[in-house]
Amino acid sequence: MEKYLNIDFRHAMPFIDENGLTKIQKEINKARSILDNKSGEGNEYLGWLDLPIDYDKDEFEKILTAAKKIRKQSRILVVVGIGGSYLGAKAAIEFLKPYFQKRKNFEVIFAGQNLSSTYLKELLDYLEDKDFSINVISKSGTTTEPAIAFRVLKEAIENKYGFEEAKERIYATTDKSQGALRKLADKNGYETFIVPDNVGGRYSVLTAVGLLPIAAAGINIRNMIKGARTARSFYRKKSIIQNDVHMYVAIRNLLYRNDKSVEMLINYEPRLNYFAEWWKQLFGESEGKDHKGLFVGSASFTTDLHSLGQYIQDGERIMFETILNISKPESNLIIKSDELDLDGLNYLTGKTVDYVNSQALKGTILAHKDGGVPGIVINIPEVSAYSFGYLAYFFELACGISGYMLEVNPFNQPGVEAYKKNMFALLGKPGYEQLRKDLQKKE
Ligand code: PA5
Repeated sequence: MEKYLNIDFRHAMPFIDENGLTKIQKEINKARSILDNKSGEGNEYLGWLDLPIDYDKDEFEKILTAAKKIRKQSRILVVVGIGGSYLGAKAAIEFLKPYFQKRKNFEVIFAGQNLSSTYLKELLDYLEDKDFSINVISKSGTTTEPAIAFRVLKEAIENKYGFEEAKERIYATTDKSQGALRKLADKNGYETFIVPDNVGGRYSVLTAVGLLPIAAAGINIRNMIKGARTARSFYRKKSIIQNDVHMYVAIRNLLYRNDKSVEMLINYEPRLNYFAEWWKQLFGESEGKDHKGLFVGSASFTTDLHSLGQYIQDGERIMFETILNISKPESNLIIKSDELDLDGLNYLTGKTVDYVNSQALKGTILAHKDGGVPGIVINIPEVSAYSFGYLAYFFELACGISGYMLEVNPFNQPGVEAYKKNMFALLGKPGYEQLRKDLQKKE
């Protein structure tokens, strides 16, 4: 099997101890075994490991049928969800859709991923004269942000089409048997899709959570699964030298031990911006526990070289960069000669814009390396559903192994509850009376 992602670790090597890689191999082996043997904490959430080969084929067909139905009945799909119930689909769609859509094209819009009343109100106004369907996604069925958004949107869709037609336009993705959304969906007769018990939110992009909105957007989800499947079988060897997932995990962990506690995911193609959001949730929520873990951030170059670039080059020496580079340009826009050449760009005549971008990448890596910022370059051959699936699996696997190396449970998120409890208490939710009093004293 040939390498699909070519990863260049050369610009990180000078920043790790000479024998580091040899020493860390043992730890990699141990963490990988914990994952493969399903013997670690959080092992009830390892369904994503085998998802590319072991997915519910009937559910998959149902997703394809529903996606077709949605595209036929509506011009817009509003996807209601937050965190893992939103970022995978958003990342895939942003990665694969054209930057500028034709006006009449089918649109996927997200809601319930914030508590902005202005966002919701403007969305309602936007939907007023357009046909739309809703895919409400919540594993627990009780998450505040999507629950509020769905309440508002459900009223709007029922007012627009009447209850009977509205229920044909609402698709619920949730737990197979329990939770508030499951109850409501069953009561109202919505078509439902299942969030598997053994897959946590941030690992759920290849379940109905991600696949229904992605398929509705017109993306080939078979190819996406195929990409993940190939990655799954490619990254099985334990040796760091033979397995780039292990090499990536080893290097980021060695850098972390050398005081590089911030990993920046960098892209040179803005269609990867939401991939970075997905990646940040994956690593941030999986590793940031027990006062451990790399802080994960992101930047889009060259845009952010004109803002964050200064800090990265010259600020605190705490970061390293993981750079996503799309090797094959989607467009070959050529720079033409200009008679006056007032902008002094004629030396680029005949070169493509992508060539300029690629030289910016090369120049920046070297400048950052000289400035004390290590870089790992992940070369992605093309923009495709296949490459998205491949890359998603690459990082999920890396994250699971890395979490076990840090000796945290990579599959829970206890820290997320703290803000929720306070918010519920302040909002006067029944059951939170004492906390409300305690908070009022602190205010
Ligand atoms: O990764 C996770 O588990 C979280 O980000 C959840 O996906 C997020 O909180 C949404 O939860 P739910 O799907 O239960 O509404």
